[in-house]
Amino acid sequence: MLAGERENPVVGLATGDTPGPMYAALSRVGLPALRAFAIDEYGGPRVHPCNNRAYFERHWRLIPGAGDVEQFDPEVADRRAECERFAGALAAAGGLDLVVLGIGMNGHLGFNEPGSKPHEGARLVSLHETTRQAAARCWGDHAPRTGLTLGLSEILSARAVLLLATGERKAAVVARALEGEVGPEVPASHLQEQPRLTVVVDEAAAALLRAAR
Ligand code: GLP
Repeated sequence: MLAGERENPVVGLATGDTPGPMYAALSRVGLPALRAFAIDEYGGPRVHPCNNRAYFERHWRLIPGAGDVEQFDPEVADRRAECERFAGALAAAGGLDLVVLGIGMNGHLGFNEPGSKPHEGARLVSLHETTRQAAARCWGDHAPRTGLTLGLSEILSARAVLLLATGERKAAVVARALEGEVGPEVPASHLQEQPRLTVVVDEAAAALLRAAR
């Protein structure tokens, strides 16, 4: 999976239900040395069971060989500056060799909501209502209104991209992203322009793909 020339590949990591089984599988086999960067974080408290920092504590820490995940700090006074700091740290590490992505119901990648452009970098964003509704499953009435995210620019310039999608509820957005028109309306559609894209979907999520029929 981590085929690359670099000794310590740099990997961007998504959170969410989708990559959970991948992290569980990795906890049985372990990891080679690598540097991990979270691709996003909720603009909420630094310590909260529903944020991405806590997710990585639960899903990543258990993997033999896994080191720290570089994270956005959502509790700094200036979140915009924090996004710049994070993008700078990633650039200093040489950018992403691999990014592991899920896909939002509205076609977002990380927190790059519809309207996001491929040249936009890491930044503070407003979360769309669908994203807040999904977040409410854990956050309840306190779903954050903002997110800190790598931009499509850092994500799409990864040297390899792995997109994961599972379940019937993702079928429409997977088909739209991979076989529909490319544009900011569905940020994940820009993956069609990524030369090193690997898509791993279960049958339910692949159901509406023409290529799978
Ligand atoms: C969140 C995250 C994304 C993730 C997406 C899908 O909003 N910011 O990185 O890919 O939702 O999550 P799930 O896999 O739980 O459907």
